[in-house]
Amino acid sequence: MELIIQRDKNAAALLVARIVANEIRAQPRAVLGLATGSTMEAVYAHLVRLHQETKLDFSGVRTFNLDEYVGLTPDDPNSYRYFMNQHLFQKVNLNLANTHLPNGRAADLGAECRHYEQLIEQAGGIDLQLLGIGKSGHIGFNEPLSALKSRTREKALTPTTIQQNAPFFGGEANMPRRAITMGVGTILDARRCILLATGEAKADIIAQAVEGPITSMVTASALQLHAKATVIVDEAAAAKLKEREYYRWIFANEPEWQEYR
Ligand code: F6R
Repeated sequence: MELIIQRDKNAAALLVARIVANEIRAQPRAVLGLATGSTMEAVYAHLVRLHQETKLDFSGVRTFNLDEYVGLTPDDPNSYRYFMNQHLFQKVNLNLANTHLPNGRAADLGAECRHYEQLIEQAGGIDLQLLGIGKSGHIGFNEPLSALKSRTREKALTPTTIQQNAPFFGGEANMPRRAITMGVGTILDARRCILLATGEAKADIIAQAVEGPITSMVTASALQLHAKATVIVDEAAAAKLKEREYYRWIFANEPEWQEYR
């Protein structure tokens, strides 16, 4: 795992967007794994800008989102399909037929989850997976005790996550209790993982995920098992990390990061 500290939220999001843009330029038919949530909004804003200013071409790109709430229609402003349409899909030249999210309204949710796994496999697997981290330590909606080998499935959300996301729904009472999410195992199969976390509210959980033990209580810690995982944080989210100076040294000196410094 690598840890990169950027001075602020915008610089961190820009770095993630540049990595994604380079992936698309290198592989025009790249398969991207995407995340939603407030942290990702700045990443998508930068990608839209890169599309407008540098003609970054999404026409061959295929996407698979991590998760979707159970019960919400695609035109519900709180659905993740709606979020993706608003923040990215409608603002770049992505072919909507190449964008995938689990269908949280499927009559048979189990079959929907198995089908989602098949679609990812048929696309050749995910080249680059974007991730946020919840205050519960989740990646996707892999809440505490999610098996580290889990695949796409339906999950009950923890009270921490319900509290975290309830403001978007105008209160906890209106918030779905369940979601479909890629499993930790599905995420670990991606060829590269990039996790972005910003703000002081994420400092504790980032320290646990990066420097703590690998545990299903903090599913983001499973990224320690991945051969190519990069965690990008701003100073605020880095505040509780013990080895900050070492991480800074790596980013400043490793040739791999030269073009991003
Ligand atoms: C969303 C997702 C979640 C979020 C996480 C952070 O698709 O998979 O894991 O990335 O809850 O959300 P924000 O960015 O709103 O703090």
